[in-house]
Amino acid sequence: MSLPVARRRLMAPDITALKRVKPIVSLTSYHAHTAAIADKYCDFLLVGDSLGMVMHGYETTVPVTLDMMIVHGRAVVRGARRALVVVDMPFGSYEESPAMAFRNAARVMKETDCGAVKLEGGTRMAETIRYLVERGIPVMAHVGLTPQSINVLGGFKTQGQTRDQWAALEEDARIVAEAGAFAVVLEALAAPLAARITEAIPIPTIGIGASAACDGQILVMEDMLGLSPRVAKFVKKFGAVATAIEDAIQAYAEEVSAGRFPADEHAYAMKETAEAPPQGSRKSRKN
Ligand code: KIV
Repeated sequence: MSLPVARRRLMAPDITALKRVKPIVSLTSYHAHTAAIADKYCDFLLVGDSLGMVMHGYETTVPVTLDMMIVHGRAVVRGARRALVVVDMPFGSYEESPAMAFRNAARVMKETDCGAVKLEGGTRMAETIRYLVERGIPVMAHVGLTPQSINVLGGFKTQGQTRDQWAALEEDARIVAEAGAFAVVLEALAAPLAARITEAIPIPTIGIGASAACDGQILVMEDMLGLSPRVAKFVKKFGAVATAIEDAIQAYAEEVSAGRFPADEHAYAMKETAEAPPQGSRKSRKN
C-alpha cells in the first residue's frame, strides 16, 4: 500500500497563478483552531492586523505591534497545513525605509514561518515592495481603503466613488504589481473601479468590499461568522456564532447554578485497587 502524498503548503507564486483560473478564497485568521478549519477551504489565510480590533478591543489597527503579529502568526502557521499564511506588517513597522521594512518583515518570516507579508499603500510603498521581493520576501499589497491611515483619511471611507479619484487608485494597483507584489487587496473600492483594475493588472486582486469582479475575496472571519458586534455593509454573515456562544454560556451558567453540571459522567471515579495500605506506611508515602 502506498502512503498518500503529503500536500505541500501553497506559496505566493501559486496564488498569483490562480488569476483567471478560479476565484481565490481567503479569510483572516488569528489562532490555530480556526486556522485548521479554514485551511480546508482557503487558498491563503491572512493574519490581519484587524486582530487589534477583533481580538484585542482596540478602535483602530494603529496600536498593533510587531510582537502581537508574531504571536498570532505563529499560531496560525501551526494550525494551517496547506494554505499560504500571510502576516500583516503593523503600522510603524515598515513605512520609514525599505531597510527597516526588510528587517521587520524578515523577523516576521523567521519567527512565524509564514510564507508572505502584507503591507498597506500603493505608489508610496512601491520602492519598499521591490526591495523586499528582491531580497526574498513575498509581498501582498493593499490599496483602496488602508485602515492604518485612518487618522489621515478621517474614517473608514469607501474609495473611488467619484471618477476624479480613479487615476491615483489605478496607478497604486498598477505600480505595486510592477514592483513585484504577488497579489493586491482592494479594500472598500467602488465596484466599477475594482473591475477596471482587475482587468488591467497581471496579479490577482483580492476584494474586501470591492465587488465580485475581483479575482478573489477575503473577509474578517469573525465578521462573516456573525461574531463581531458591528460590521461593514460589505460583510455577509454566514453564521450566527455570537448567538451560539451566548446560548451555550447561558445553558452552562444555568446548569452550574442548578447543580446539574457536572453530572456523574463528567466526574472521575476511584480506581479499583487491592486493599489500600494503612496511612503512614512506606508504600503510601510519596517520594
Ligand atoms: O487586517 C486585515 O484583516 C486586513 C483585511 C481586511 C484585508 O487587512
